[in-house]
Amino acid sequence: MAQNTQLLTLNNGHKMPMIGIGTWQASDAEIEVAIEAALEAGYRHIDTASRYGNEKAIGQVLKRWLDSGKVKREELFIVTKLPLNANAPSDVEPIIRKSLADLQLDYVDMFLIHTPFTLMASEDGGVKRDEQGLAIPDLRTNHAATWIEMEKLVANGLAKSIGVSNFDQEQVARLLKTAKIRPATNQIEHHVYLQQKELVDFCKAEGIAITAYAPLGSKGLAKFNAGFGIVRELPDLMDVPEIKEIAAAYGKTPAQVLLRWIVDTGVIAIPKSTNPERLKQNLDIFDFKLTDEEVAKLVKLDQNFRIFNFASHHGAERHPEFRFKNEFTN
Ligand SMILES: NC(=O)c1ccc[n+]([C@@H]2O[C@H](COP(=O)([O-])OP(=O)(O)OC[C@H]3O[C@@H](n4cnc5c(N)ncnc54)[C@H](OP(=O)(O)O)[C@@H]3O)[C@@H](O)[C@H]2O)c1
Repeated sequence: MAQNTQLLTLNNGHKMPMIGIGTWQASDAEIEVAIEAALEAGYRHIDTASRYGNEKAIGQVLKRWLDSGKVKREELFIVTKLPLNANAPSDVEPIIRKSLADLQLDYVDMFLIHTPFTLMASEDGGVKRDEQGLAIPDLRTNHAATWIEMEKLVANGLAKSIGVSNFDQEQVARLLKTAKIRPATNQIEHHVYLQQKELVDFCKAEGIAITAYAPLGSKGLAKFNAGFGIVRELPDLMDVPEIKEIAAAYGKTPAQVLLRWIVDTGVIAIPKSTNPERLKQNLDIFDFKLTDEEVAKLVKLDQNFRIFNFASHHGAERHPEFRFKNEFTN
């Protein structure tokens, strides 16, 4: 089956589908159904991470599809990440090998450093916390040293491309000073309420593609936050009048307008859905295009509102590479 999306050519020549399916906060049972439905719908780009805990379930679906010949490996674009509790140079190869084993793949298409800050790992593979329950920063973080190990993954064929996630402009610029392989993407929170224009323009000018996470405003985050006792009102991007108005004009949904805006600005988006109808809808955005006026209208909605402020990792703000504003930072 042909893939049903536009492709963006990365700085190394590899092509990345501009819509992928996000997989955070999906149980094994949910993600199996969702990945099956996504591949049927034409998705070929899957965004996961060892921290999401569902790589094995994704791997089972991928194996079925690859074994049956319904899809060829080279048609897929699989992204996974080096977790925030294992960012040391010595973690890189063992971590990707574990992800590859779980995903039942020989290589991933993109391997990302998940966050610029690092937290100490607990014995059970989670995040180590002190007596007050605060996450303990791992102050040994050295992006340049970790990046050398990331570059080896490209050389030894375990990752076709490498990149970063949640890096700010200074962190990207610093990495570029020593990198032999430039990051292919920076995966950041990006949607109409958090457009991060400066960072996006900087990365694009440096040949680094932007991948937008939480492109629909991450409705599931409120539930996740509640698990950490964090109550914070989050905007509903699908209820913004300007977006609803444009959606009505095209006979599309607000979610489709939010995604089309991202793609129209040359950015890759990875909306998560485990609902077969909604995930189909999120890919069905290539039969309309926003006018310049509509794009400009959406640009004006920017509120610099960060939905993912990593407050659930209270304690991480003590790490010098932690750059997010939240209720625990000054
Ligand atoms: N690098 C990082 O640090 C980082 C951080 C966060 C996320 N990510 C990645 O980015 C992906 C996307 O971000 P996200 O999951 O936080 O948020 P998101 O994609 O903005 O939003 C997902 C939420 O929207 C709902 N939804 C999806 N399609 C919809 C539609 N067409 N209409 C109405 N509701 C819809 C989903 O519910 P249903 O499932 O019920 O449809 C889910 O609750 C993640 O899954 C993950 O892969 C990366």
